[in-house]
Order: sequence, then structure tokens, then C-alpha cells
Amino acid sequence: MPSSLLIKNARCVSSSAIVQQDVLIENGKISELGDIAEKRAEEVIDASNLYLLPGALDPQVHFRDPGLTWKEDLHTGSMAAAAGGVTSFFDMPNTKPSITTIATMTQKKEMAAEKCVVNYNFFIGATEDNLDELNGVENVCGIKIFMGSSTGDLLVSDPKALDHIFGNGSRLIAVHAEDDEIINAAKVQYKRSIDFNDHQFVRPPEAALKATTLAVDLSIKHQRRLHILHLTTRDEVRFLEQQKGKGPISVEVCPQHFLLSGPFIYEKIGAYAQMNPPIRDMVHGKALWEALQNGTIDCIATDHAPHTHEEKAKPFGSAPSGMPGVETSLPLMLDRANRGLCKLEDVVKWMCEKPVELYKVRNKGQIKPGFDADLVLVDMGQKKTIENGKLFTKVNWSPYDGWNTQGWPVRTIVGGETVFLDGEVDESVRGVEIQID
Ligand code: DOR
Repeated sequence: MPSSLLIKNARCVSSSAIVQQDVLIENGKISELGDIAEKRAEEVIDASNLYLLPGALDPQVHFRDPGLTWKEDLHTGSMAAAAGGVTSFFDMPNTKPSITTIATMTQKKEMAAEKCVVNYNFFIGATEDNLDELNGVENVCGIKIFMGSSTGDLLVSDPKALDHIFGNGSRLIAVHAEDDEIINAAKVQYKRSIDFNDHQFVRPPEAALKATTLAVDLSIKHQRRLHILHLTTRDEVRFLEQQKGKGPISVEVCPQHFLLSGPFIYEKIGAYAQMNPPIRDMVHGKALWEALQNGTIDCIATDHAPHTHEEKAKPFGSAPSGMPGVETSLPLMLDRANRGLCKLEDVVKWMCEKPVELYKVRNKGQIKPGFDADLVLVDMGQKKTIENGKLFTKVNWSPYDGWNTQGWPVRTIVGGETVFLDGEVDESVRGVEIQID
């Protein structure tokens, strides 16, 4: 591996500008920008027709390691990330065992160092009685609270228990905000349904709004750093427009919640469209897209949550919730930029800069001297079809199967090393643990 790499004539994208220049990478860091002589580097890339973006950070994935590795593992999940231009990820704790202790977190980080081709960090999962672990664990991206139950058995729904966690400690809390009581009541009502479109009614907008309201109230009360994961409703958008500024609160959305909608997607792909919180009708998707553009929503994540074909073949009520996404989120957003629905600068803001800023990640998300050389070269002219069977995620399906999109990563660089090039992943590259300030 060369320890210096020169990218010539790339159009470097930040949230505020696109500047064509050369980028010199030395020993894993960006060392210089400008007009740089070719002889300065061991390897030179001509990027005249390409855009250079800071590598994306996906702040919510489920790579299923340990214990659920027939669905995904840290190696395959991180390969899917690399192919999608995602150079860093934050992974969720609902594995087997769940990651709720310092000891299991240490083991997970050791495993990640062996398996990950991109950079990583992890959430520690909250239970009703692991406060010392939540506050004692070092260098994690945050605490994850499932306020409503989903895949796995992590759940803290009691308001008193939640108040105790919010009131004791200072680390970022990320919430899956759905109210468990409302969901359980709706489940009884839809017990006999065989229609996957009913998933959105089993987990209705009121469940999301009630839990989001509680989390926001607790954040404001304790001035505790809160990140609301995967927002899904217009109701929550309206509520957050009023309340978000009263506390240290940030909000995320997944592309599937504004790109896909019921009932169409459930008619088309059934169980494969099932996730929590659910894909809803278009009125919500439209509000989410507007909220992303006006800043009520800060950033994009995927909630990449693979389940196998066999698992998804189960009937409504038994099929698991979750869909892959880490490999397709950047291409889907590049396609939107190509179609004039947003700017490339916005994509960089939502997928590269904001997640880094919100989670206080050290030294990433900018193409600037001194920053880590986590980068993605993008061909905005390249057209491809997203296809089941041609993906890096272990389950090898996508809810976007058959979608033709324009604008694709052609080379992904992690710590100065090329991990993805023209459709191939170099499985020997290793990412490192992301440092959180
Ligand atoms: O749909 C989902 N799947 N939502 C979650 O909150 C968890 C995830 C999973 O782990 O399968």
C-alpha cells in the first residue's frame, strides 16, 4: 500500500462549496490541498471527471454481530458500507447478547478491529438497571434506548426509568421513539390481519408522537443531549418545529421513510417493506423531506437492518421488521441531487458533516489538511440498477430492487487506503475505532 496518494483535479464538495483542486494524502491523513506536483506522491489518481466527498458516516446500522451473523456480520456489513461510500458507521446493540455492559462492548470492539473494512463505533443499550455501565463505558457514540420494542429484547418504556437515565449522566442518548402501550393495543386489534400494509397501523403515528414527546420533555427537563432516531411522522415534525430548540436535541431520518410509501410499497414487496418505525403514507414522507431541507431534521441514517429471505417469507405478524440500506443510501441521494431535488452540497451536509458534528467525531467529515483521509470519489454520470443478488450485504436484497439511479461511488478510501474500487471491495483493508470527543 502506498503511504502517499495524490488525487488530481477533483471537485471537492463541502456543505458550502464545490472547489476543484488536488488533494494530497500522506500516512492516512489529508496533508495538503491546492495545485500539487505529481512527483510528490507514490500513487496519483486523475479525478478530473469526478467529485470528491468526505466519506459518509451512517449513524445507525445493525450489523448483527455477535450472535445473529446469518443475517450480517461486521465484515459483510462494513463491505456493504464501503461499496456505498460509507467510511464510518455506528452500530446498534440489539445483538445476541445485547451490548449492555462494558465487558460486552470491549469484546465487540475487539471483534470489530479484526473484521471491519471501514471505521466503526457502537451504541451501548439501556436496560432498566445498567446505569453504571451506560455512564462508565469509554469512547462510545451514545446510549441507545428502545422506548418501544422491536427486534431483540431491549426495552425501557417506563417513564420513571427513562427519567432516571436522562437525569443521571451526560452522554448522548439516542431513542427509538415508539410508545409500547399503544403498539401492544394495536397489535391486538390487528391480530387477524394478513395484510402487510397494516404494519403502519399496528405502529401508528400516535405511538411515535407520544414517545418522541416524552423523550423531548425529558431532554428539556434535564438539558440532556438527545438524538431522535429515524423520524417517521408529520405529527412529530410539527411538534419538533416548536420544541426542538428548547433542548440539546437532534433528529435523523432514513431515506426509505421519504422514498417509499404505503400502501404501494407493501403491495409491491410485502414483508420486505416492514420495518420499525414503519413506512407510512406519502403525507408523512413529504413532511420528512421538507423537514430535512429546512433543518428540523439534521441528518440521514439508514437503520440498515437485514433479515434473510427465509425470515421475510413468514406471514404478517411473524415476519421480522427491518431492511438493508447502508449500500444504497448515498447513491439514492446522489440520484436526487442529479434530478435537481437537492444539491450535492446538501447531501454532504446530511450524510457526512452533520453526523460527525452531532456525535462529536474527531477529525472526520471535512476535506481539510489534518483530517482523516476517509473519502469517496463519485461519478455523477454513472447509471446503475440496484439489483437483488448483486449486493455486498449478506442477505443480498434491497427494497429498491430494480431502481435505476444516476450518481455512484467509484472509489472509497478509508484512512488513505482504497477499500472499494470499480465494484470490488478490498477485504484486506481495516478500519479503526472512531474517536468521540
Ligand atoms: O425495523 C427495525 N429493525 N427497527 C428496529 O428498530 C430494529 C431493526 C432490527 O434490528 O431488525
